[in-house]
Amino acid sequence: MSKPAGGDPAPQQEHWGSKFGVILAVAGSAVGLGNFLRFPGVAVNNGGGAFMIPYILSFLLLGVPICWCEWTMGRLGGRFGQNNGPGVMYALWRRGPAKGIGALTLFIPVVVYMYYVVIEAWCLMYAIEFFKGGFGEMFADATRGLTDGKEIVGAVVGKAGDYFGTTTGQSENGGMLVGSLPWMVLICFVVNFVIIYRGVTRGIESFCKVAMPLLIFCACIILVRVLTLPNISTGLGFMWNPKWEALLDPQVWLAAAGQIFFTLSVGFGLILCYSSYLRENDDVVLTSLSASSTNEFCEVILGGMIVVPTAFLFLGAENATGGTFSLGFLTLPAIMHFMPFGNFFGGMWFGLLFLAAVTSSLSMLQPAIAFLENGFGLKRTGSVVLLGVITAIGAAPIIYFSHNLTALDHADFWCNFSMILAATAQVIMFGWVIGAARGCREANRGSDFALPKFMPFMIRYITPTFLIVVLGAWTYSTLPGYIEGMSPTTRGVSAATAVYRPVIAEHFATDELSAEQIDTRLLELVGKDARKRPLPDWLGEHETAAEEAREASSDDASVARMVFIGLIVLYLFLLALADIACRNNIGRRIAEAEARGVRLE
Ligand code: ALA
Repeated sequence: MSKPAGGDPAPQQEHWGSKFGVILAVAGSAVGLGNFLRFPGVAVNNGGGAFMIPYILSFLLLGVPICWCEWTMGRLGGRFGQNNGPGVMYALWRRGPAKGIGALTLFIPVVVYMYYVVIEAWCLMYAIEFFKGGFGEMFADATRGLTDGKEIVGAVVGKAGDYFGTTTGQSENGGMLVGSLPWMVLICFVVNFVIIYRGVTRGIESFCKVAMPLLIFCACIILVRVLTLPNISTGLGFMWNPKWEALLDPQVWLAAAGQIFFTLSVGFGLILCYSSYLRENDDVVLTSLSASSTNEFCEVILGGMIVVPTAFLFLGAENATGGTFSLGFLTLPAIMHFMPFGNFFGGMWFGLLFLAAVTSSLSMLQPAIAFLENGFGLKRTGSVVLLGVITAIGAAPIIYFSHNLTALDHADFWCNFSMILAATAQVIMFGWVIGAARGCREANRGSDFALPKFMPFMIRYITPTFLIVVLGAWTYSTLPGYIEGMSPTTRGVSAATAVYRPVIAEHFATDELSAEQIDTRLLELVGKDARKRPLPDWLGEHETAAEEAREASSDDASVARMVFIGLIVLYLFLLALADIACRNNIGRRIAEAEARGVRLE
């Protein structure tokens, strides 16, 4: 075990009240919508049981080591009086890149909060609607007079889709402003900021100590209900029977790594912030593992056994393989219609999702609160009001530009990209700047058990290599699509041709054209930019629809571009703030800590 870093702790520093509290707070940060909505969709679409192989490998080679690095760096940064990413990074590496990495660990949680709070509001709205019995009435109306089972399922799923599309404003920008959603967003803002205002121990820790057991309890009740449904084994088989051939697809490996990042909140800067409230000799090794294991229990056992198996059982295979939003907000409400006491279980399910989302969104706010306080000497009221205003300004375009959820989708994409970047930078910093052996000695200080002997080697070579491969492959496979999606012309043309393509296929149906032949006809008939005139009559009838699709898609591309530019501006702004703070308050506090004898052994 290494010698203590020495020196007196920073004056007036806040600390967690108990080990149990910190585990629940970090687990609360990790357990969120990713566990209950994202995981089942990703797993079932990427090989079912076979997905667990890349998933567990990613957990062991990426998740666990990166968490240990973040916990150790955070606790060390706390000794220098820093509870914020830029401060922690700067305390450990007095060079410019540390400010850049630090600004990234500030940028990611703030931006994720801006859209995460909107999804949190959907959960709250759905919970209230279920408890009020609104969904029951809506589905009863939709199925009145129907007797055929398939028709009933179709009507319920269709109605759930209409409701989700309308309330979340997916058909036109501004659509989310109609109805009760803006109030739900306001309630979520108030809940989050009131808890944050109360501080780390009285606010976050106290809330998570109640919310985490409560949400796990609710999920267990729902799980028992699901597991006692007749024939549930067929649903479990649909979800978990391994499709081994999926392992040959690189996308499956990428999906597993991406899921581990999102679910454990690694690279977000949250763990860095939370662990900075530990005391010098508080354990980080077992605590980190306990928080990650709690998250995995909630993800694999609770998240993995509820949504998809029940969707298969009640709605059939075609409705059980959607993405995060369609499984969560479309399939789930539909299932509850067929389940005894569906209104109660539906309310409970969305209530637990809401709690899980709040425990996560709190952790997205604390890094920026700590930065404003440590870096600029703001008092709690000032930091809470300022961050409230900034995040409200950021959430406004996410809410307004709701057509196809374009703003939300693009903000999420760039955050995921930044997360892998930030995690890579942090691991390299731990392994190569601090030094893996020195860093692991620091992790072992006060630990309940020592890190495995191979950990320095793993953190120096294996984890960064794995991360760089993931970053490269992910960039190669998804970045071009997103960049193309920011071009109004390209996006408009592909939307217009998407309208013409099925019409052309139908017109030449008797010729049985292949996909390439249809594309050739498309070029001959409507030209490269899908605007050639005059069009034959049978195609001309669809010109208005094609023009509308072109316009809507061009607008979406402009929104995507605006989101990208907005995020760059925000990052640069945070970088400038990090630079100013490091030169002033943060630098001063670090120097004071050093004068008290605090140093990295
Ligand atoms: N880790 C959080 C979640 O799973 C962000 O939702």
